[in-house]
Amino acid sequence: MAKMWAGRFSKEVNEKVNDFNSSISFDCRMYRQDIRGSIAHAAMLGKTGIIQQQEADAIIAGLKEILADIDAGKLAFDPEAEDIHMFIEAELTRRIGDAGKRLHTARSRNDQVALDLRLYLRDELETILELLHGLTAVLCDTAEEHAGTVMPGYTHLQRAQPITFGHHLMAYVWMLLRDMGRLSDCGKRMDECPLGSCALAATTYPIDREMTAALLGFGGVTANSLDGVSDRDFCVELAAALSLLMVHLSRLSEEIILWCSWEFKFIELDDAYATGSSIMPQKKNPDITELVRGKTGRVIGDLTTLLTMMKNLPLAYNKDMQEDKEAVFDAADTVKLCVSTMTPMIETMRVLPRNMRAAAAKGFINATDCADYLVKKGMPFRDAYKLTGQLVALCIEKNTTLEELPLEEYQKMDPLFDEDIYQAIDLDVCVSGRDTLGGPSRDSVLRQVKQAREKINDGK
Ligand code: ARG
Repeated sequence: MAKMWAGRFSKEVNEKVNDFNSSISFDCRMYRQDIRGSIAHAAMLGKTGIIQQQEADAIIAGLKEILADIDAGKLAFDPEAEDIHMFIEAELTRRIGDAGKRLHTARSRNDQVALDLRLYLRDELETILELLHGLTAVLCDTAEEHAGTVMPGYTHLQRAQPITFGHHLMAYVWMLLRDMGRLSDCGKRMDECPLGSCALAATTYPIDREMTAALLGFGGVTANSLDGVSDRDFCVELAAALSLLMVHLSRLSEEIILWCSWEFKFIELDDAYATGSSIMPQKKNPDITELVRGKTGRVIGDLTTLLTMMKNLPLAYNKDMQEDKEAVFDAADTVKLCVSTMTPMIETMRVLPRNMRAAAAKGFINATDCADYLVKKGMPFRDAYKLTGQLVALCIEKNTTLEELPLEEYQKMDPLFDEDIYQAIDLDVCVSGRDTLGGPSRDSVLRQVKQAREKINDGK
């Protein structure tokens, strides 16, 4: 097929170069956005008198038909076309003749692709935010149900202090809410229409940029034509926000993997969200979470691709930038896949409070509370800390726990100890006492759930 730019050339492009150059295999997914952008552009060209109104009308009608045909599977993308922009323009001209050749007046593929990508990612952002609403809502429900379920909290993966399962889950809700904030923020900066930047130096035609921007639902227009066609920070920013989101999901995944193991057994995944082994009949594997953990590397890789691709690029458009799409599409696809699979997996998982409780009863996670007991009786914290350390060593030596150590042993260490020590180190008391703002107590978790739900609904 003759190229659109064939006029300047005396030879057909080498076949390999043609394939190498082509982006239609991956930018075809932006056909809706490309057509939307072209419809707005044609309407503007007609309105400003740059082309005749009836030509604009013919273009718009032709584009609508093309859209309907692609949607219905009646029109296939031509792999020979260089990209989606050229494919649609060529198809339009094939259908409506000369009027089609006027569509590209006062436009370049450079501002066209910058527009299409913004429109596409704007829709993706919305879908991802909706999926995150779903995930945070499920986490809030589970946290509410387990607001008072005592479990050990960890530092260095060593049992540290008692918390509640609800509190643990809510920690992820707050991370995800910040991710959602970052995503919406990135959407705000993406909300400028680059159309009218043309190839790089805008145009001499009397275009109406505000009109196209408004038709396409943008809040404004880009202020500089060079920046309009050569900035891809909206892709980088989105990939960065998605990478951080994936890092959060990978941490949650890692914990779910641990919690499913026989060593912890804090939860059990529903059979529909776990997989077996081809050789070991006893196995039930948390593959979904392992894949989320693994795919996190992929999204971080996409971010690295984008940053590295943009580094040192002179203004304005360079073909390197065609590489932006596969990376940012992959990041968005991967996140959608991970969030939509994790949400029902968490919703259906069985929580095993008795096992959490049993783990919390071991490992001296109430040692800080024992020290605090002495502090409340007047001892300076450092002394109380040291003395409790000696008590723990004694328990280890006697193969017992603080709960089971006889009062005489406590009193031998320090006469401040009394019968009420057992109450002070009771796990439920330790947890319910941690009722400060942001603490793990049942009441605090319920307050967090309420606060988070308000935030989630605010964002809707
Ligand atoms: N397929 C190209 C891309 O994705 C469209 C812009 C091409 N512009 C150009 N001057 N070659 O970046």
